[in-house]
Amino acid sequence: MSALDERPGTSDDEVRRLWDGNAEVWARQVRAGYDPFRDLYHHPTFFELAGDLSGRDVLDAGCGEGRTARILARQGARVTGVDISERMIELAGAEEEREPLGIRYEAASIAKMPMLGDDSFDAVVAIMALMDCADYEGALPEIARVLRPGGTFAYMICHPCFMHGHLGWGKQDGKHIAIRVANYLDEPETRSRWTFAAAPDRDEVEPFEVVYFNRMLAGYLNPLPRHGFVIEEIAEPAPSDEACRAEPRLRKYQGIPHVLAVRAILDPAP
Ligand SMILES: C[S@@+](CC[C@H](N)C(=O)[O-])C[C@H]1O[C@@H](n2cnc3c(N)ncnc32)[C@H](O)[C@@H]1O
Repeated sequence: MSALDERPGTSDDEVRRLWDGNAEVWARQVRAGYDPFRDLYHHPTFFELAGDLSGRDVLDAGCGEGRTARILARQGARVTGVDISERMIELAGAEEEREPLGIRYEAASIAKMPMLGDDSFDAVVAIMALMDCADYEGALPEIARVLRPGGTFAYMICHPCFMHGHLGWGKQDGKHIAIRVANYLDEPETRSRWTFAAAPDRDEVEPFEVVYFNRMLAGYLNPLPRHGFVIEEIAEPAPSDEACRAEPRLRKYQGIPHVLAVRAILDPAP
């Protein structure tokens, strides 16, 4: 991943435009299994933290083309997926038509979901989406509104301490042992272009263009209690040995985690 420039103040409209542009290649490559980080590392560790959601009403916030939503639906959850990218939602909807799992999809910002009623969900999950979301603090009251009291809010993001402002790895004896990080306290937005390293066609497609909103750890955690959430668990998971054997690029994250995950509940007695 290479930082191209920094542009404070990127709007939801620009985020939508970028993800609409990424959607086609993203959906095809994710569905082809070219995102082993997700399949071997992010998803297993996230689902362990989020707990059993079968039989529950679940909102997948920033659902993209619907991969997580489909997994949850197959596990027996009643799933709604919301994404700001209309193209992502079209692609998710097409997959739902092809193989109906009862998932409802809506194109909207998670900071404004008027189509969803108060107290509608037992859980809201957001996997690898909130660092792409311009208005995290604006999304929290909406998530709290649609959650039932006592409901779960679980999310996973690129680890804010290591991946934002990431300037590259330091190696010793051929092993990745350190990360250089810049501007952690500045919280700049970073526009990046990247591809799935495992995709065999990575040189033939346009790289994904994204804006990362580089909130600090405090920027993610401190707003939660302000919006009625009680943090239950914070995880900084490492990929398993088995995952690293299957995808050796994961091995370096056994020393420094790629992701941070949080599970909170909406305070039932505020
Ligand atoms: C890295 S993708 C992850 C998608 C999906 N969660 C997955 O795991 O495949 C980030 C997604 O967040 C969505 N997104 C960014 N800001 C959003 C917002 N304010 N509301 C809803 N979705 C948003 C983007 O459109 C994009 O689909």
